[in-house]
Order: sequence, then C-alpha cells, then structure tokens
Amino acid sequence: MTESSATTTTAVAPAAEPMVRVSGLHRSYGTGAAAVHALRGVSFTVPRGELIALKGRSGSGKTTLLNLVGGLDTPDSGQITVDGTDLATLGENGLLALRRDRIGFIFQSFGLLPILTAAENVGVPLRLRRADPREREERVALLLALVGLGDHAAQRPGELSGGQKQRVAIARALANRPALLIADEPTGQLDAETGLAVMELLRAVVRSEGVTALVATHDAQLLGLADRVLELADGHLVEHERAPLP
Ligand SMILES: Nc1ncnc2c1ncn2[C@@H]1O[C@H](COP(=O)(O)OP(=O)(O)OP(=O)(O)O)[C@@H](O)[C@H]1O
Ligand SMILES: [Mg+2]
Repeated sequence: MTESSATTTTAVAPAAEPMVRVSGLHRSYGTGAAAVHALRGVSFTVPRGELIALKGRSGSGKTTLLNLVGGLDTPDSGQITVDGTDLATLGENGLLALRRDRIGFIFQSFGLLPILTAAENVGVPLRLRRADPREREERVALLLALVGLGDHAAQRPGELSGGQKQRVAIARALANRPALLIADEPTGQLDAETGLAVMELLRAVVRSEGVTALVATHDAQLLGLADRVLELADGHLVEHERAPLP
C-alpha cells in the first residue's frame, strides 16, 4: 500500500488552528425595550500557547464572552470553536465533557469548597473524571508544588489568604491538563501586590504547562503580562494592541 497520505487523516485539530476562534458573536439578555445587547458581533482568535487579556469597563461584556467561550452559555448567533470543535455541534453532554476535560475555569471569588482541604479541592476534577487515586494524589502534590503551596496541602480555604486561595483555584483548574484556561477577573478580590503575583503565576503556568489562557481583568498593571490585549466596549471589540516586549 503506497497511498499512505490517504490514511493519515485524524480528528485532531492541526497545530496551526487557533485554540479559540470566535466569529460574529451576538448575545442579548431580555427582549423588547428592556433588551441588553451584551455582545454585538465579536470576532477574534486566540493562538495556541498565548495568554490573552480581555479588558473593558464594567458591563462591557467580558463575563458574557468568557461564559460563551467556556460553553457555560450559548450565543444568539455567531460561531465559537475551541480546540477545533464547533461548540454548536455539542449537546449538553458534549458541553459538559468539554468543560470538565478541556477547559479550566478560574473565578474572582475562587469557588473553592470550604469543607475540603487545599489538596482535596485540587483533586475534585480528578475525582469527577474517576482518575486512579494514586495518580490523583501524585498530580495534586505536583500541582500544589507548582503553585507554591506544597506546605499548605492540609489547610482549608478559611485558613488560607486570598492569594493562596486563588493559587489553589489555579492548581485545580490545571488538574485535568486542560487545553484552555478561562479566568474571569482572577485578581479582582486581591490587593495589588497579591494580584500581580497571581497574574505572574498564571503567566508562568501558561509557559510551563503549554496551556492557552483567556483572562478578563480590569487591572492595567496586569495587561503587560499578556501576549495580546483585547478590549471590549459596549459589546464591540475595539482594539487589538500588542503588549510591550519585556
Ligand atoms: N443574566 C443577565 N441578565 C440580564 N442582563 C445581563 C445578564 N448578565 C449580564 N447582563 C448585562 O450584559 C452586559 C454585559 O455584562 P457582563 O457581565 O458581560 O459585563 P462585564 O464586562 O463582565 O462587567 P464587569 O467588569 O462588571 O464584570 C451588562 O449590561 C449587564 O448588565
Ligand atoms: Mg464580569
């Protein structure tokens, strides 16, 4: 058999395919005179391995956009492709699997379970995937070390600082080796110094784990750590600016 090229087709997205491709996205809340047009035709791509910051005033549509890209919400019109998969082709179970296996979420309010230790919180996504317990414990220990919390594994969220809580949340988001991290104002509840440290950690894990990240932030100080900044204003993307080189 010499026609080998005919046998090489696979379902894996080509490396050049962006991690996220969004085109002509619209999302409104409510109807008639009370309707709020949160997104009015948004298009962009997120190249693999990049950290993209999403800025914009309160109400500009950042959370709406992140929820759509993360498969937590569906658009009125437009297309979203994550890691080569058009989200519109996925049913509820497909979206659930995408969120569980391919995307790590990080929120402003951390979202940790208060009765679980740091290690148990990081292990939750692995339990949901029914990972082997030994594999789970090894991965949790590695992730806690990665975020600098190796000595805090047994502490519960109530016994951790805000910055430490967000580090636990970052470790948890990485547990299933996601292709994409989605973070909605991950430093919003932290003081400037702690927020910068958390953003620097995100910057470092994007490099070390080969993950792609889309991060909404109000904080101008953090934008310089991004590979690219997208700005939303009233549901439109207004500029694509290149961050200054370090
Ligand atoms: N569930 C909802 N129902 C009705 N309107 C909503 C809903 N969620 C968001 N909106 C409206 O959509 C617009 C965009 O909101 P969104 O939360 O995406 O903004 P944001 O950029 O994340 O703001 P912030 O910086 O304050 O978090 C706002 O006008 C908001 O009031
Ligand atoms: Mg928001």
